[in-house]
Amino acid sequence: MDRFEPLRRRTIALVGLMGVGKSSVGRRLANALDLPFRDADNEVETAAGRSISDIFGELGEAAFREGERRVIARLLEETPHVLATGGGAFNDPKTRALIKSKAISIWLKTDLEVLARRVARKDTRPLLIGKDPMEVLRAQAEARYPAYAEADITVETGDAAHHVTVDQLLRALSAFVEEQEA
Ligand code: S3P
Repeated sequence: MDRFEPLRRRTIALVGLMGVGKSSVGRRLANALDLPFRDADNEVETAAGRSISDIFGELGEAAFREGERRVIARLLEETPHVLATGGGAFNDPKTRALIKSKAISIWLKTDLEVLARRVARKDTRPLLIGKDPMEVLRAQAEARYPAYAEADITVETGDAAHHVTVDQLLRALSAFVEEQEA
């Protein structure tokens, strides 16, 4: 048996604020574990046939959350994979309950200053348009950290290179799974 086999039995869901690296680190984690990778935001866009910005703009955030929940519920029925969720997914009580019942959840936690710098490089996030990223992130942190704290595992990632974070995640996952099986 290879040492990662116990980590391939359940879907691993990454949660946390915008810019923490749920997608970029998630893709690399999936690679390291030889698991498929799914990005909930991309899957929502495919299912809706339009971009996240258009969904927010044309249908509103409530409709987005509804679609996000349906898409995540479907993904959680698939064979184990690494799942990057959108920043608000785990803050939604029903979506959080779904993830907690079917997956191992990991909160990627990084200083807000680092996140603000990262999200400033991209202009595709509807919640940031025309706003000060630091203010949005501060408000989201206050509102969402209690929900994120319900994840099975919390990993503080800082501004490390992706492969360092992936190693950190693999160690944390192994410890969690070992403890669960003890
Ligand atoms: C959101 C985060 C985004 C996306 C949507 C809403 C949020 O995902 O789901 O724009 O509420 O924080 P990322 O966390 O991948 O940017």
